[in-house]
Amino acid sequence: MGIDIGTSGTKVILIDIKGKVIATDLQEYPLYTPKPGWAEQNPDDWWNAAVKGIKNVVKGVKTSEIAAIGLSGQMHGLVALDRNNKILRPAILWCDQRTVKQCDYITKKIGAERLKKLVYNPALTGFTAGKILWMRDNEPALYKKINKVLLPKDYIRFKLTGIFATEVSDASGMLLLDVKNRKWSETLLKELKIKSSILGECFESEKISGYVNSEAAKLTGLAYNTPVGGGGGDQSASAIGCGIVETGIISVTIGTSGVVFAFSDKIKLDKQGRIHTFCHAVNGKWHTMGVMLSAGGSLKWFKDNLCKEEIALAAKKKVDPYDIILKDLDKIPPGSDGLIFLPYLSGERSPYADPYARGVFLGLGLAHTKKHMAKAVLEGVTFGLRDTVEIMRALKIPIKEIRVTGGGARSKLWLQMLADIFGQEVVTVNVTEGGALGVALLAGVGAGIYPDISAVCKKIITTKKGAKPNKKNVKIYNRYYKLYEKTYVNLRDEFKELAGLQNR
Ligand code: XUL
Repeated sequence: MGIDIGTSGTKVILIDIKGKVIATDLQEYPLYTPKPGWAEQNPDDWWNAAVKGIKNVVKGVKTSEIAAIGLSGQMHGLVALDRNNKILRPAILWCDQRTVKQCDYITKKIGAERLKKLVYNPALTGFTAGKILWMRDNEPALYKKINKVLLPKDYIRFKLTGIFATEVSDASGMLLLDVKNRKWSETLLKELKIKSSILGECFESEKISGYVNSEAAKLTGLAYNTPVGGGGGDQSASAIGCGIVETGIISVTIGTSGVVFAFSDKIKLDKQGRIHTFCHAVNGKWHTMGVMLSAGGSLKWFKDNLCKEEIALAAKKKVDPYDIILKDLDKIPPGSDGLIFLPYLSGERSPYADPYARGVFLGLGLAHTKKHMAKAVLEGVTFGLRDTVEIMRALKIPIKEIRVTGGGARSKLWLQMLADIFGQEVVTVNVTEGGALGVALLAGVGAGIYPDISAVCKKIITTKKGAKPNKKNVKIYNRYYKLYEKTYVNLRDEFKELAGLQNR
C-alpha cells in the first residue's frame, strides 16, 4: 500500500506484487491562508483522509495479505506536538512564506558558507527549521510546549504506529540534516538552540520503521502489525514512481509545484544554492532538484479567476475545464505574439529564492486575447522549469532522458512546448500513481518482496512517446527565454517595494 499526503488531498493505492494497481482513493481537504503568504492545514484532516482512503481501498481485500505500507507526503511542513501528542497549532506548509526573518537569522548566525557545509542547502523560507524558529519568536508559549516536531507524512506514521520517525529524503528538507552523512546535524541543532530530542529517529527510506498498532488497525481495517516502511518526501517518492533511479534520467513533474529532479550517485552541490541537494530515497544516493512554487498552480489560478465561462461550459459538456482552456492554443505562435508571463504567484524558490516575487504579464496589448494569456502562462511555467534544467546542464549533471509526469504530462500541447523550450526530447511513463507508487515499492523492498528498488523500478516502469523538439520553435523560444530571464532580474527590487506597500 502507498499513502501520499498531498497538499490538495491524500491518495491511497494498493498494488499487487507486479506493480499493478488494485485500488486507489483520493480524499481532499482545505488549505488555509489566514494571512497573505501563509499556508496552513489541519494534520487531523490528513489523518481522517488517510483513514477513509485506507478503508476504501481495502474493501474486499484480505488485509493480512498487505505486505507493507509506504508513506509519502508534501515536504517541509511543520507539525508540532505537545507531551500528550496533541497538535499545538495548524501545520505550517512547504509553500508558506512567513519565515523571512528567521531565515536571515539562520544565515547570519551560522554563515552562508558553513550552512552549505553542515546541511548542504541555504536557509529558504519553505524549509522546516525556519518554521520552528518562527514559533519560538512568535508563539513562545506554544513553543515551550513542543515535545516533537514531525513532517506531514511522519504524523501519519505516528498515528499508524505510535512511533516518532522520519527518513533521509524528507528530513533533508528540514535544514537540520547533515545531508552528506545522512544524519541529524548536531552542530546546527546546538547552534540554533533546537533540542535534538524533539526530532524523531531518521531512517533510510526503504527500512521498515514501525508496525500498525491496534488502535490504527481498528480504525482503518488494516491488520495489526502490518509493517510501515520509511517512505519518502513526495519528490523523491514520485521520482522513484517514475523510475529516476540512475544517473542520466531526470524527471519534470508538473503539479501545483513544478519540479525538475536529477538522481545523483555522488553528492552534488550548486554553490549558488539555486537548486537543492537532498538525500534520495534510494539507499545511499542523493538528488538535486529545482522547485517552482506555482507551476500547475499558475494555470489553476488562471482557470479559477479568469475562466468562469470555460468552467461553466465544461460542467455543461461534462469535460475537464482545462481541455477547453487549452483548446486551440497550438494556433497561437510560440511566444504568444509577444507576451511573457512570470509564474511567481506565491513567490519563488528555484532558481530565485524570493518570497516577494509575484506574477507578471509583460507585453499585454490590445491584440492579445485570453487564449494568448493562457499560452503565455504555460510558456512562463515552462521557462521556469528550463531555469533548473540549465543549472543542471551547467553543473554537468548528465541529462540523457527527460521524463515528464504529473498533470502537465497529460497535455500533448504542453509536452511539445517542454521539448521546444528545453531543446530536447521529452518522454512520459506508463504509470501515473507517482509518489504513492514509489513508496509502495520502497515498502516492498523493506518487507523483502523485491531485492532492490532500482531493479523493481526498471521492471515495472517503462517510457512512452512524448515529444521531439521542433527546430523552428526552439530558435524562437531561445530568444523569448533570454528576455524571460532578464525580466525577473530587472524587477527584483520592485517586487520587494510592492510587498512593502502591501504590508503597510
Ligand atoms: C519540495 C516541495 C514541494 C512539496 C509539495 O521541496 O516543497 O514539492 O513537497 O509537493
